[in-house]
Amino acid sequence: MQQEQYHFNYEVYQSIEELSFDDMDLLQQAKIICEKAYAPYSHFLVGAAAILSNGKIITGTNQENASYPVGICAERTLLSTAGTVYPESHIVTMAISYRNAEGNNNIPVSPCGMCRQALVEHETRYQHPVRLILGGMQGIVYIIPQSNFLLPLNFSIKNLKG
Ligand code: THU
Repeated sequence: MQQEQYHFNYEVYQSIEELSFDDMDLLQQAKIICEKAYAPYSHFLVGAAAILSNGKIITGTNQENASYPVGICAERTLLSTAGTVYPESHIVTMAISYRNAEGNNNIPVSPCGMCRQALVEHETRYQHPVRLILGGMQGIVYIIPQSNFLLPLNFSIKNLKG
């Protein structure tokens, strides 16, 4: 038996102002698009904005449903749009933000497990990392260099094909 370790490096910024212009703009777009979320049940409005390899920026929001499990997260809404409208391009960076019922929050949002799996599928499909910018309406910002850092030992096509 041997013990293995897993760790990853990510960047922590004290505020959006410390980001590069492009990263700041993308996170700003994620914050703005939160207002288009449909979240009458959780009142947790999530917005995602991504820049693609073709230079286009696309957005997504969470869309809830009276049958709760039918709802979809902002990240997977965006991934579906990317795969439908620009299947020839891949996502370079995705920024994610949110506004909760109290109207604000400064803890970076963390993608749920299902969205991590979907992000890793996109990375595997295009053989490119999807860089993540995670923030709230204000406060600290995390930059994760690639999405699969958030899903170690992930299940992928490699498992299916053996
Ligand atoms: N949600 C997202 O859209 N993205 C996340 O990263 C976390 C959670 C949504 C799902 C649901 O509509 C609401 O936030 C509360 O969980």
